Amino acid sequence: MNLFRKKPLAAPQEIGASKLSKTLGAFDLTALGVGAIIGTGIFVMTGVAAAEHAGPALVLSFVIAGLACVLSALCYSEFASTIPVSGSAYAYSYVAFGELLAWILGWDLVLEYGVAAAAVSSGWSGYFQGLLEGFGVHLPTALSGAYNADEGTFINLPAVVIILLISSLLTRGVKETARFNEVIVVVKIAVVLLFIFTGIFYVKPENWTPFMPFGFHGIMNGAATVFFAYIGFDALSTAAEEVKRPQRDLPIGIISSLAICTVLYIAVSLVLTGIVPYRSLNVSDPVSFALRFAGQDMIAGLISVGAIAGMTTVLLVMLFGQTRLLFAISRDGLLPKALSRVSSKTHTPVRSTWMVGGVIAVLTGFVPLDRLANLTSIGTLFAFLVVSLGVIVLRRTQPGLKRGFTVPWVPAIPLLSAAACAYLMYNLGKETWIGFFIWLVVGLMIYALYGYRSSLLNGDDSRLK
Ligand code: ALA
Repeated sequence: MNLFRKKPLAAPQEIGASKLSKTLGAFDLTALGVGAIIGTGIFVMTGVAAAEHAGPALVLSFVIAGLACVLSALCYSEFASTIPVSGSAYAYSYVAFGELLAWILGWDLVLEYGVAAAAVSSGWSGYFQGLLEGFGVHLPTALSGAYNADEGTFINLPAVVIILLISSLLTRGVKETARFNEVIVVVKIAVVLLFIFTGIFYVKPENWTPFMPFGFHGIMNGAATVFFAYIGFDALSTAAEEVKRPQRDLPIGIISSLAICTVLYIAVSLVLTGIVPYRSLNVSDPVSFALRFAGQDMIAGLISVGAIAGMTTVLLVMLFGQTRLLFAISRDGLLPKALSRVSSKTHTPVRSTWMVGGVIAVLTGFVPLDRLANLTSIGTLFAFLVVSLGVIVLRRTQPGLKRGFTVPWVPAIPLLSAAACAYLMYNLGKETWIGFFIWLVVGLMIYALYGYRSSLLNGDDSRLK
């Protein structure tokens, strides 16, 4: 039995079989990254993070979570520029750590993308309903939120509908996705800047005192919560096989999209807590709410429309990433081949897209946003942690590899990155840990009963040649 069998670096099935066209450059990647990052985290979760965790010190939570992400982004960049294949952290660990950990990580990323999509559609629904209310349209309470007997809500219908719509879009072909994404990215950045430059005139510095009402602990809980807002730059590395010069462009794309978002987030959190007393921010559309609070109803409406469009592209990327990841895992034989079957008509994995869409629709319909988002974050942090340690391992085991980008001060930076991720995971609360643990146990069972035997690396590897 060999649980640590490793995949050869450039497995021919990947190089030869990659029929994806190489069209993306550094600029496209940065746009794709920003498209994947800015979404429910900044537009929705800032509200509860300020009201219940950090208070006006929300900005420090963003700085801390941002720093942890920058450290991990450096590690991702080294991997992405060394092993430019689809599958992201899953593929990296297959080479660095062997099959068992690769499977655990792949299964963990299924959690990240799937549950993130559910969380984002739930945030989308909050803004959508806010906008409808602006026109005097109110959904029946039972259909307006995830199941909650106390509040009389049963299912979050708009969230379910948007997931099914995006799934249907993805099955039709994704040719136009990148184009569509670039347009929306511009809208998204414009909306964030509009908020900052309108809101800044309504900031009352007295709203910033007390600055740390929940102390250091609150800031760290806040950082773990808003970590969600940064998720997405890692999804860029799933596009590796479509990048023109991956060794140069991937690191640029990953680091610059993260840098842009960090600066915007810091500004938004300062302005938001400056306009509204933090206690009042626990609403489902805090960014628009702040401008309504300031009496700018028109601009608030514009921001809602922009936020809805912006969250739609995050959904697209997450669902797309999910199907790509399942594709990569099933190509290696660790999941049934049906998941990598592509329709001959549309050239998209139609069946697996609908399957993924169906599961996510159920999640988003019945589970509240904060639980979904925290579960996403713990899964992502775990992946970041493994990738960070993987940099150190691969430097030792394969020192001669050609690396397009190298993390400075190894092992200090990767170790710091791993420690930061572990600390944020620790701050995510017991319920989230239980959910994560159950997910991992289910994954290990699937591997024991199915993946180990049907892996391409099983026994004779003639199928690899
Ligand atoms: N970072 C993405 C968002 O905030 C997942 O929606």
